[in-house]
Amino acid sequence: MNVLLFGPPGSGKGTQAKDLAERLGVPHVATGDIFRKNLREGTELGTLAKSYMDRGALVPDSLTCDLVADRLLQPDAAGGVLFDGFPRSVPQAEWLVNWFETHGRVIDAVVSLAVPDAAIVERISGRRTCTKCGATYHAVHNPPPAAGCSTCGSTEVVQRKDDSEAVVQSRLDVYARETAPVLGVLRGAATVHDLDGTGDISVVKARIFAALAL
Ligand code: AP5
Ligand code: MG
Ligand code: ZN
Repeated sequence: MNVLLFGPPGSGKGTQAKDLAERLGVPHVATGDIFRKNLREGTELGTLAKSYMDRGALVPDSLTCDLVADRLLQPDAAGGVLFDGFPRSVPQAEWLVNWFETHGRVIDAVVSLAVPDAAIVERISGRRTCTKCGATYHAVHNPPPAAGCSTCGSTEVVQRKDDSEAVVQSRLDVYARETAPVLGVLRGAATVHDLDGTGDISVVKARIFAALAL
């Protein structure tokens, strides 16, 4: 099954993706996580992506689509993927729809999470991220265990550089300008489930699972 998790920064895509990918039995493909992993590993791609990410701008489409094309051709993606944070521009969405058509694959569903801006700022300013595996927490809503990351055990659970208030505002502007129009493209290509992304993490999870009949 190929599913896209769509929504503004801080809408809970990464938080929900973990259980959802497990349930669907497909890999979780988050372009932001791939860029951050490259940055940690000091690759050329990581350095280039950082120059865009640090100011909340989108990494260029050609670079992002090439990366996704490589990922889609890996053996573990043959049975489907759960996308998180891709596509996030109209050219990326058109590229993806075309790629699926060309490769005889189908986008089974799009899950779109709606969260008001005020809640987003509160969520993102409280977010803490594991520098080793990328797992995310929230200082109040989902605090990391004192012993460290519950996924990998690392004690380095910190605030992401682009989670400062100034950068969050520009990420929201970029979302409104470049990413929100993506939904129009996706509505023409797949079933879109428009879901309320507010409420407890478990409540949002139940909404998603119900929409996908899981
Ligand atoms: P990316 O890493 O994708 O960031 P984003 O889209 O801005 O989304 P976030 O990761 O900030 O939010 P999320 O929806 O995953 O929320 P989360 O679950 O963490 O992208 C970063 C950058 O990479 C971009 O700015 C761009 O530069 C580049 N990039 C990535 N993909 C690209 C692409 N395709 N093209 C071009 N450039 C690209 O939740 C947020 C917080 O809220 C957490 O603390 C969480 O614990 C908490 N929380 C979650 N759910 C709830 C809830 N229900 N109630 C209370 N708190 C909650
Ligand atoms: Mg995320
Ligand atoms: Zn970790």
